[in-house]
Amino acid sequence: MTRALRRSSQRPLHRASLAAFGADAVVAATRADTHPMPKEKPQRAYRVRNSPIHGRGVFATRTIRKGTRIVEYRGDRTTWEVAVKRPASDPDNPHHTFFFETSDGTVIDASVRGNAARWINHSCDANGESYEDENGRVFIDARRVIHAGDEITYDYRLSIEGRIGKRARAAYACGCGAEKCRGVLLLKPKRKKKKKAK
Ligand SMILES: C[S@@+](CC[C@H](N)C(=O)[O-])C[C@H]1O[C@@H](n2cnc3c(N)ncnc32)[C@H](O)[C@@H]1O
Ligand SMILES: [Zn+2]
Repeated sequence: MTRALRRSSQRPLHRASLAAFGADAVVAATRADTHPMPKEKPQRAYRVRNSPIHGRGVFATRTIRKGTRIVEYRGDRTTWEVAVKRPASDPDNPHHTFFFETSDGTVIDASVRGNAARWINHSCDANGESYEDENGRVFIDARRVIHAGDEITYDYRLSIEGRIGKRARAAYACGCGAEKCRGVLLLKPKRKKKKKAK
């Protein structure tokens, strides 16, 4: 079985600074804590439905501002050895994957206890991006403003062992439809610098 990896980018967290809100906000928050829970849950920023890119996808239900944390990529945290022995996530497509590899080699298998993040499709010109925090948790954040109705995507940055030949290009063909589509879900391997001849 071909090993398909997903990696998350390592950009800084978007943390709201408490100091920016001043003392009034702190007092208001303390009072709010003593109130009963509101009856209605706040509306989620996304919902899952059929996608023109592939199968199911995740779509914004309202405007999502650049830098917003949208959803955590959840699932069973395991090793490659265990993950690859599990039943295929789509028996009709051996290259379909719900795996996300973190920087220490842990695999998050979203086919086990996964959440809506597992339905987010890849785009070569994505409006979202993956971010791995210092505890190895992976989140999908907005890399630009996302409007209600837009499909939420991120660049999978998939990599496989070996060269990307015709077969791999067919197996991992991309249907994102972006003008800049690179044709595959795979990331081009970085070329090793040739040593200068002495
Ligand atoms: C995490 S799932 C995403 C949810 C998927 N749409 C589904 O219904 O199962 C990842 C799989 O979706 C498919 N996929 C995601 N983005 C794609 C794209 N841009 N082009 C083609 N297939 C895509 C690939 O088979 C990939 O392995
Ligand atoms: Zn593409």
